[in-house]
Amino acid sequence: MTFLLRAHEVTKRFPGVLALDRVSFELRRGEVHALVGENGAGKSTLVNIFAGSLRPDGGTIELEGRPVQIRSPHHAQELGIRAVFQQLSLVPALTVAENIFLGRELTAPGLLRKPAMRARSLAQLGIFDAGIAPTTRVRDLTVPQRYLVEIAKATLEHPKVLILDEPTASLTDRETGVLFRLVRELRAQGVGIIWITHRLEELYEIADRVTVMRDGRHVATLAAQETTTDRLITLMTGREYEQIYPVLQPVPPDAPTILEVRGLCSVHGLRHISLTLRRGEILGVGGLIGSGKGLLGRALVGLEPLTAGEIRIGGETVRADHLSPHAMLRRGVMYFPADRRGEGLLTNRSVLENMTIAALERFERLVGLLEKGKERRAVVEYIRRLAIVPPNPAARVRNLSGGNQQKVALARGLIRDTQVFIMDEPTQGIDVGTKIAIYELLHELVRQGAAVLFITSDMLELLHVCHRVAVMFEGELVATIPHEEASEERLLQYFFGHMREEGGQSSVDAA
Ligand SMILES: Nc1ncnc2c1ncn2[C@@H]1O[C@H](COP(=O)(O)OP(=O)(O)OP(=O)(O)O)[C@@H](O)[C@H]1O
Ligand SMILES: [Mg+2]
Repeated sequence: MTFLLRAHEVTKRFPGVLALDRVSFELRRGEVHALVGENGAGKSTLVNIFAGSLRPDGGTIELEGRPVQIRSPHHAQELGIRAVFQQLSLVPALTVAENIFLGRELTAPGLLRKPAMRARSLAQLGIFDAGIAPTTRVRDLTVPQRYLVEIAKATLEHPKVLILDEPTASLTDRETGVLFRLVRELRAQGVGIIWITHRLEELYEIADRVTVMRDGRHVATLAAQETTTDRLITLMTGREYEQIYPVLQPVPPDAPTILEVRGLCSVHGLRHISLTLRRGEILGVGGLIGSGKGLLGRALVGLEPLTAGEIRIGGETVRADHLSPHAMLRRGVMYFPADRRGEGLLTNRSVLENMTIAALERFERLVGLLEKGKERRAVVEYIRRLAIVPPNPAARVRNLSGGNQQKVALARGLIRDTQVFIMDEPTQGIDVGTKIAIYELLHELVRQGAAVLFITSDMLELLHVCHRVAVMFEGELVATIPHEEASEERLLQYFFGHMREEGGQSSVDAA
């Protein structure tokens, strides 16, 4: 049997790192082949070789049975290999259609055939049913919409191989569903798809086979249907986990309220949100895409304009015109935005510098400056706890894998003296081993008296990591469910608006 694409004993070295150690990998026609492994395992390196952006130091690549040297991304495209990476390549100032046809404009003599281009890209985007007009400028699209445009661009010319590096990390549930449909369609047409992901649950839905990598090596290739999450985690980490979710300690009964929100309304659709968060508590915030759960996090730090309502920290009202991420930071409230990938990181600087200076420098004095030795110890400690690879404070952030860059962004917040953490999807793009470490870390933070508002689209995180779960539906907080009473079924009923608590949480607060 000839494979569509095959890597045989491929090796890739970076200064001081053996990123791929004689890795073999085979992709069949018409299969979705998932590639999993911890952050830094070598997944992106391998697919970058297929996509022509990296050259291997050893080993061979075959396409349809013939050896090939993939010389450049352009060459890979000519060979029918297309990749969509996390860093999008679209030009924000151009329209959707212009982006899709960039470099391969359909031309009539002397002029660009704009209407024809638009018509074709419209047909292409029709697949996505995502309401994206070809004439819209890319800068006016949301991140998930941009990602879909990127995929439309990659699939326009019927590639043989489609590589998706963590496609669902920047997609909402709805767009993930759209992508699944598209991928199944391409698979039926015989396209081979490499699907990199940290969300193991999606493998059972989309993948035919799964290859596990660890420390630059190939560990196993299995039929997706024949594997289990436990087995995969063990293969990925080399360890067995008794349990993924740490045991939740109850909030002390006398724990004071640290954050209180009353009647919050916003321009973009938050309606009368009231909630309280106590010291020692993790309050999960769940809901469908568009339910407003992300808006809520943004609103609390002034990134979403308010029309009414009150926010109190430790009993003190924060004036609406004083609301900003920096002002909140001064009050000990730290916000982690959802699309953190590389955001705000100085990629040419070291891990140490990024964790300790960077964007918040100006406010250091107010937050309480850590002296140097203590600072370095804290950095070393977070490198260890978050298993940042390489574990070197002097490493350039640019050379870290995607997930490890995320961990640096996370550590930057954790290192400060923070009372309230507002986290929007903090475990996105992070491998399972580290997710477990993050849950443990959150539990430890709350044991020490901090409080966490944990916004997540991961049902299991809502069920297992949070003391209470607030459910958002169409801009309203429709229910707050204690951990003991939370079940997937129950939460979903609220997610879909089939049920609501009388008065949401407001009645509880008023008491
Ligand atoms: N340009 C580079 N220079 C130096 N080291 C690099 C470079 N690119 C990657 N590495 C290292 O190679 C190893 C593999 O990285 P890779 O990006 O392939 O990981 P990954 O499996 O994609 O991880 P993630 O899930 O975090 O995206 C890591 O140790 C990383 O630090
Ligand atoms: Mg990667």
